[in-house]
Amino acid sequence: MFIYITRALPDVAAEMLARALPGARIELNPHDRNLNRAELIEAASGCDALLCTLADPLDATLIEDLGPQLKVIATCAVGYNNIDLQAAKNRGIAVCNTPGVLTDATAEVAVGLMLACARRFVEGDSLTRQGLFSGWAPLLHRGHGVYGKTVGIVGAGRIGKRVAATMKHGFGCRILYHSREDHVDWENELDAEKVELGELLARSDFVSLHCPLTPDTHHLLDADMLKLMKPTAVLVNTARGPVVDEQALVQALRERRIAAAGLDVYEGEPALAPGLSELPNVILLPHIGSATIETRDEMARMCARAAIAVLTGQEPPHRVA
Ligand code: DGY
Repeated sequence: MFIYITRALPDVAAEMLARALPGARIELNPHDRNLNRAELIEAASGCDALLCTLADPLDATLIEDLGPQLKVIATCAVGYNNIDLQAAKNRGIAVCNTPGVLTDATAEVAVGLMLACARRFVEGDSLTRQGLFSGWAPLLHRGHGVYGKTVGIVGAGRIGKRVAATMKHGFGCRILYHSREDHVDWENELDAEKVELGELLARSDFVSLHCPLTPDTHHLLDADMLKLMKPTAVLVNTARGPVVDEQALVQALRERRIAAAGLDVYEGEPALAPGLSELPNVILLPHIGSATIETRDEMARMCARAAIAVLTGQEPPHRVA
């Protein structure tokens, strides 16, 4: 039995695999970087199980090139837009993800970005480090407050709902949301209001994106949609980069048509759109939504559990295909 791990995971994954599948060959990408297509095929072809990440583009051709032995793809992520589920299904390959365990961690980053953008933490840090803080002053480095403001949540899944609850209970915010489905119980609980995307953008002081990347959500926030936002508004994206037209966002931030953005994900990740990193009113994080020690350990365990289940003839948990 051959198991390939495309990027170093917390040790617990390999330990669980070795314990449950004695004699299995477990190999790990030895580099501190993602493998390119050719490298991945060379290293992993013939594997029975692939433990991968959201950075591996598992399209139909790549899945085929990995060979007929492949029985399970366990991705260390809740999002699976990088995997051709239909191609996996056609070949009888189970695909499993890691939902639930990263809700709190990702919500923390989204809320943190809202606060950091509104109160301009990163600009303030840099001003202080540069020795430009010459003493308290009434007009020094003012931002916008967060308490009692309107927060627009795009995508009312687990993370969107957790962010909404935090902003409602922690900061007394009014919650608007945009979602394909109704969430009546939750709406009542938070006194949230379901609205069309355009209305959400026009009314929100903070817009936080929590929808999956699908053909329908690609460039959901394009140049026209960004124009609907308030000039004082903050956009936060901890979902997937291509949900926003990043070049249009650079333009909107540069012209101060929106106040600021907090980004954890990028359209051409890890590359940034030209000009993005030069703007003072954007905070850029390296896709760390789920990057707590506790969460990443649990994500690794979930990947290992999925592979072990399939390779021992059981139905795996959290199967998406
Ligand atoms: C996910 O799980 O999809 C996240 O983006 C990883 O942090």
